[in-house]
Amino acid sequence: MSAVRPSEITPRAVYESRRDWLRRLGLVTAAAWAPKGWSASTSTAVRPGRRPPLAAVPSALPGARTAEAWTPYEQVTQYNNYYEFGFDKDEPARLAHRMPLRPWTVQIDGLVAKPLTLDIDDLLKLAPMEERIYRLRCVEGWSMVVPWIGYPLAALIERAQPLGSAKFVEFHTLADRESMPGLRSNVLRWPYVEGLRLDEARHPLTLLTFGLYGEMLPPQNGAPLRVVVPWKYGFKSGKSIVRVRFVERQPATAWTVAAPHEYGFYANVNPDVPHPRWSQATERRLGQGGLFAPRVKTQLFNGYAEQVGQLYAGMDLRRFY
Ligand code: MTE
Repeated sequence: MSAVRPSEITPRAVYESRRDWLRRLGLVTAAAWAPKGWSASTSTAVRPGRRPPLAAVPSALPGARTAEAWTPYEQVTQYNNYYEFGFDKDEPARLAHRMPLRPWTVQIDGLVAKPLTLDIDDLLKLAPMEERIYRLRCVEGWSMVVPWIGYPLAALIERAQPLGSAKFVEFHTLADRESMPGLRSNVLRWPYVEGLRLDEARHPLTLLTFGLYGEMLPPQNGAPLRVVVPWKYGFKSGKSIVRVRFVERQPATAWTVAAPHEYGFYANVNPDVPHPRWSQATERRLGQGGLFAPRVKTQLFNGYAEQVGQLYAGMDLRRFY
């Protein structure tokens, strides 16, 4: 893992006072950048001004806005896992701008009443955008707090009308040989495919994500759209999605195929189930202390047990890891 310079650390209070200052200057007023027909945005994120703005309202869903300090934008966007662009944390930020983001369509098929292909502009309008502040816990033992923008994946699922036989959903992500040098490696099978049980995919915390920090997603974070599943290890949150497929059987997912004994299909954050090569009891919270970021205790389901625990009632979490 690469080092985080202490100078990159911006406590939330600093962001908030900067936001107030920008507001006074009129730079964070929503009206200028809200999509047509929207009322003013009350997104709380500071706009770093590097990507087009994306208006959102703070989510009212219980559990969707942690009060913990946000990880600075610089770290969220420069310390990434996006293996299609390489295995080093800084490679996605250096290389992902080569990925063609327009035109972009998402094919929705498999066991659905209404197979359809949606353009990114239609997807952006499908449901009202919410800002959600989630913890992101990587299986490698680090974590961040990110102000994401998106809407429940359930909104897209309902549009497609899955058949009764659909039990799981697969997310296929872009595999573009021209722009993605990582595809030359055979560590993973490409395209990177992830999957969820249908009830997990429909859970209101599962976010179809288009932005962060008040702006459209940067390419290295999975532009133009990705999934964010906050109670699971980060690898479940596939980036740059091009296809959503409804299936009957549990999908073969990228990391489960590559190393089945190390990465399970469920991948629910769990401090009591160690990775075969390291403990998962604690995590390094990026943004607090740089290189010396304190380790904090990892929480069951990444702290979302109250919201999602019932999805796994009666399941042996050690067996279904
Ligand atoms: N999606 C694709 N297509 N390719 C990837 O390599 N890495 C995953 C996930 N989604 C990955 C991906 C992993 S391991 C993590 S921890 C998160 O993205 C990281 O998201 P972030 O870079 O926005 O923090």
